[in-house]
Amino acid sequence: MAVTAMPSERLNLTLTPEHEMIQQAARKFAQDKIAPIAAEHDESGEFPLDTIREMGRMGLMGIEIPEEYGGAEMDTIAYVLAMVEISKADASHGTIMSVNNSLFCHAILKFGTEEQKKTVLMQVASGYAIGAYSLTEPMSGSDAGTMKSRAVLNEAGTHYVINGRKSWVTSGPVADYILVFTMTEPEKMHKGITAFLIETDKPGFERGKKEPKLGIRASATSEVIFDNYQCPVENRLGEEGEGFKIAMTVLDAGRVGIASQALGIAEAAYEASVQYAREREAFGESIGSFQMIQQKIADMKTRIEASRLLIYSAALAKERSKNTGERYTLEASMAKLFASETAMWVTHQAVQIHGGMGYSKELPIERYFRDAKITEIYEGTSEIQRVVIARNQLGLR
Ligand code: CAA
Repeated sequence: MAVTAMPSERLNLTLTPEHEMIQQAARKFAQDKIAPIAAEHDESGEFPLDTIREMGRMGLMGIEIPEEYGGAEMDTIAYVLAMVEISKADASHGTIMSVNNSLFCHAILKFGTEEQKKTVLMQVASGYAIGAYSLTEPMSGSDAGTMKSRAVLNEAGTHYVINGRKSWVTSGPVADYILVFTMTEPEKMHKGITAFLIETDKPGFERGKKEPKLGIRASATSEVIFDNYQCPVENRLGEEGEGFKIAMTVLDAGRVGIASQALGIAEAAYEASVQYAREREAFGESIGSFQMIQQKIADMKTRIEASRLLIYSAALAKERSKNTGERYTLEASMAKLFASETAMWVTHQAVQIHGGMGYSKELPIERYFRDAKITEIYEGTSEIQRVVIARNQLGLR
């Protein structure tokens, strides 16, 4: 049997000099500027506006967006590398960065008009303004197609009037623009959902209660309320009825970002655990010499590296999709599922290895543990990722 040429270069996982450059720049900024303030912001819940603005100036708030629209014009691997470094220092910064990059900027780049790209995208990708994404409602979470909020086109056909309440909006308390999904034709279910770009300084928009959270406490999350908000037709993203597809397409990109965040949290917990296992002594030996600790270290490292490979695979699939338009839903869901469950498991082991110190706020280990949990919930729970993966494999909808 003839063996055709193998495209082995596609399996080359070596980073390019540009990738190493962004990884090192993000690492230096994260360790110098973010790590020292992370515990304080976790305690106070204060949004870290100064460091987010600095990240904008470094190009980290619109990494994959072309320079002409305010971004850094790099690829998805660069985005993953930067997300890991930022999240390793502080998962809250990672959440704000991920939503801005993949749920907001990516959506406008893919579905926006030239005018929307030159105005809104330009401001958000450069970090001058903050972007958010709002799909969830109090009674509509995993079943995103059942939302109750409404947008009705006025008689003149110039504005939509939006009413309703959306919940769990990351960066909701501070966002300048929010990509909101709402019903224009409720009888059509998911085919009746439309996407809108909301300007948060306009009448009819109100920020609701800020959520008191277990983790990622410096990433502000709130409800947002629409009371006869007038949205100009030019601020609709895509066509009427395209909202659900836009929401799902964008979530595929978002899930690559959250998987990278989870990897960053897991790496931070793992590296601290290795150091502690070398230094901490019990029964006259370092605890790392005990096989029960060694088993944890071995399994933590193996799961982390497996997560990294799934994330790189999803990032490369997303990169290919820029040319082919093919979906990478399967790769994104597998990466998000595995990396988030790894982050939860690894941070749990890290607390155990550190014993009492793992439970104390004197070290960041308990914060990693609290922060990891959200990665199994937002942008699609682990259960939803399993539904997506299984349906894909079984050929079901
Ligand atoms: N890309 C493009 N299109 C997609 C898609 C994707 N990834 N997934 C589904 N679609 C399309 C389907 O092809 C189908 O199109 P047609 O009607 O033209 O055939 C349509 O969307 C409906 O698809 P389904 O029948 O599969 O839809 P469903 O109602 O069964 O839902 C689901 C599928 C996977 C459960 C989906 O609802 C889902 O992902 N739910 C989770 C929502 C979620 O992640 N919420 C988190 C919100 S963001 C957040 O966390 C807050 C934050 O700020 C970070």
